[in-house]
Amino acid sequence: MKLWGGRFTKPTNELVDEYTASIKFDKRLAEQDIKGSLAHVEMLSENNIISKEDAETISKGLKTVAEKIKNNEVHLSEDHEDIHMNVEKLLIDEVGPVGGKLHTGRSRNDQVALDMRIYTREATVLISQLLVDVQESLLEQAKANLDTILPGYTHLQRAQPVRFAHHLMAYVFMFQRDVERLSDSYKRVNQSPLGAGALAGTTFPIDRQYAADRLQFQGICPNSLDAVSDRDFVVEFLSNSSLISMHLSRLCEEMVQWSSAEFNFIELDDAFCTGSSMMPQKKNPDVAELVRGKTGRVYGHLISLLTMLKGLPLAYNKDMQEDKEGMFDTVDTLKGALALFAPMISTMNVKKENMYQAVIKDFSNATDLADYLVAKDIPFREAHAIVGEIVLNCIQQNKYLLDLPLSEFQQYSDFIENDIYDVLTPEAVVDARDVVGATAKSRVIEQFEQASRLIELN
Ligand code: ARG
Repeated sequence: MKLWGGRFTKPTNELVDEYTASIKFDKRLAEQDIKGSLAHVEMLSENNIISKEDAETISKGLKTVAEKIKNNEVHLSEDHEDIHMNVEKLLIDEVGPVGGKLHTGRSRNDQVALDMRIYTREATVLISQLLVDVQESLLEQAKANLDTILPGYTHLQRAQPVRFAHHLMAYVFMFQRDVERLSDSYKRVNQSPLGAGALAGTTFPIDRQYAADRLQFQGICPNSLDAVSDRDFVVEFLSNSSLISMHLSRLCEEMVQWSSAEFNFIELDDAFCTGSSMMPQKKNPDVAELVRGKTGRVYGHLISLLTMLKGLPLAYNKDMQEDKEGMFDTVDTLKGALALFAPMISTMNVKKENMYQAVIKDFSNATDLADYLVAKDIPFREAHAIVGEIVLNCIQQNKYLLDLPLSEFQQYSDFIENDIYDVLTPEAVVDARDVVGATAKSRVIEQFEQASRLIELN
């Protein structure tokens, strides 16, 4: 017989049981569910809603059930629909009918909201920690590559040289915002819905604050209807996860490009690559590709949840059971990606010389030639045109700016003097960009310092 079978005259159709049960996936909430129940039962006894003895029996029973679930000693059954009712059934099997007092003053609606909040809280902390590991490995690579210069791109065309450290630091700051978003949303998830009952509260003189304190919540949800019917905290987590995935995916795309023969800027460690079943020479950046590829499923879960919620009347609706699989899959997906990312970054081999050659064999110092003329009081637009012609001339002769003799420069402008050969070297070009946040050595060092301070606080 079902825990709610009293009002029914016949058993549920088997297909209905199978279709509506969530135990297959919400068994993942067993720990959170029992944690919540322990706080609830303690609160019930503190407020004399159930006796101390009964509370003790129930608590002991719950702990035994927790152990048994953990050790796979019990069968979690679709007959009992979800983790909440399976735990209650197991408790009653363990301690007898007194176990039936656990659900006093509580509904599965506030119970599931509570479980999901505890779970989301834990996931938020875990993902933040993993992100910090990635930040640290990026920072370490950046420090090792302060003097590594490579072309910076716009439109994937070589634009202006940058320090590789500067490029990596861009990601450190992206992940910093991701961590900050997680910690900001933590405040909102960290509110207890317990005590909201099915939707309207409960007739028992419960103490919501007491249970919330036991569960280390920062506060309690102020409206019972809202407490049981919103999953915006899951939406926020999925939205934060989508941004994290997007940032990871962009870095992955760069790593895939950089490790191609066409770029040949980095080599990923063998431990983070795989081979081909057919082509013996292949070494593929599969991890980076998969992290990029899995971004879609995280976005998908965000859109699914937003869509599921958008038409629901208050308060609880069974549709909301659909919040779980996407949440769990997102946590697994991100956890997998982030755990691999930190070591993949720290072990990659940076081919400094190839990066440097890509800068030398290019015109990414053309802006500097124009800026040189501007410093001699030529209007920028005119300087731009002059340098454009010089570049065209070089391309026709298969030369680069630094290959031109002074006499040739001077055919375009008398203002160009011998010091131009110092101005146009990659080192001079990057260090000329000496404003806050730019690629000059001291400015990149400032970024190291700023990032270290922020990471410390994460
Ligand atoms: N398994 C359900 C869920 O995940 C638990 C809440 C069910 N509540 C109810 N009144 N049917 O949403």
